[in-house]
Amino acid sequence: MKYIIDTDPGHDDFFAILYAIRRLDVVGLTTVFGNSTVDNTTQNALRICDLAQSDVPVAIGAGKPIVGDFVVSAIHGNDGLQGGKSIPQTERKADPRSAVEFLIEMGRAHAGSLSLIVLGPMTNIALALRIEPKLADWISEISFMGGATATGNVAAFAEANVWKDPEAAQMVLSSGIPLRMAGLNLTNQARLSQTQVDQLANAGTKIGQHASEILAFYLKQHSARYTHPDGPMHDPCAVISLVHPELFKFRDTAVSVELASPQLRGMTICDMREIAPFPGEVLPEPNVKVGVQLDGPACVDAMIEAILEYR
Ligand code: BDR
Ligand code: CA
Repeated sequence: MKYIIDTDPGHDDFFAILYAIRRLDVVGLTTVFGNSTVDNTTQNALRICDLAQSDVPVAIGAGKPIVGDFVVSAIHGNDGLQGGKSIPQTERKADPRSAVEFLIEMGRAHAGSLSLIVLGPMTNIALALRIEPKLADWISEISFMGGATATGNVAAFAEANVWKDPEAAQMVLSSGIPLRMAGLNLTNQARLSQTQVDQLANAGTKIGQHASEILAFYLKQHSARYTHPDGPMHDPCAVISLVHPELFKFRDTAVSVELASPQLRGMTICDMREIAPFPGEVLPEPNVKVGVQLDGPACVDAMIEAILEYR
């Protein structure tokens, strides 16, 4: 299986991208606004690929959601990767194709053997599906970080990636593409702490050093905002579940996105009732494999091990 990573790097995206390049056949990255502007997230993606010595194409995607404007989140600092100041800038240029063109072209070329890993707002995927509906048949699966079965982060019930473009998320959720969701309820179970900052710093590798700095910044930001002292590795969970499915439990669930209510906009409504239909009643069909449980320490170890393989 080949993979395209759609991403808005991002401190946890940094770890997810490096892990994915090490463990999967990644054939390209597409960028999107989210943790910063799309200009910044694209530069960050190019710098991360340089670090990984990967020359996969990086195609620039959407700079704003389908509806409304882009709201910058503070948690990843000014440029989305503020903890990674020591990562060298790059001369490398983005691919001449737009993210949408790239997704459609690759989907057509690798129909049935291409999956997506989506780590930011789903705008690029939704736009690509609108332009080329056959993409839904070509893509084998989308593993995404987004949503939550209960508590959110940017709002009481909304997770950042879905909240930043709820219309796009709903278009993808209703596309018929097999979906695997790593929501906050799952990703909050995989946390990194000062132990991993030290482990990465002491490994004596260049990427280990950068990763340690990035993680230290992320933990600082995180502990200023949330009560839990350790930082959740949201995005890597959407990748680790593909490499180590044995560490995860998923549940087939009907999921949709709330678009109308001002208070609940961007909430993923996950129908987790354990019920049988009344006679004549039609229950919503499950459309997503929702991650409900993971082995946190094993996921963290698997990720750190891969990061430290880079020399
Ligand atoms: C998601 O939002 C971003 O801040 C992270 O990179 C992750 O993709 C978590 O809600
Ligand atoms: Ca992200």
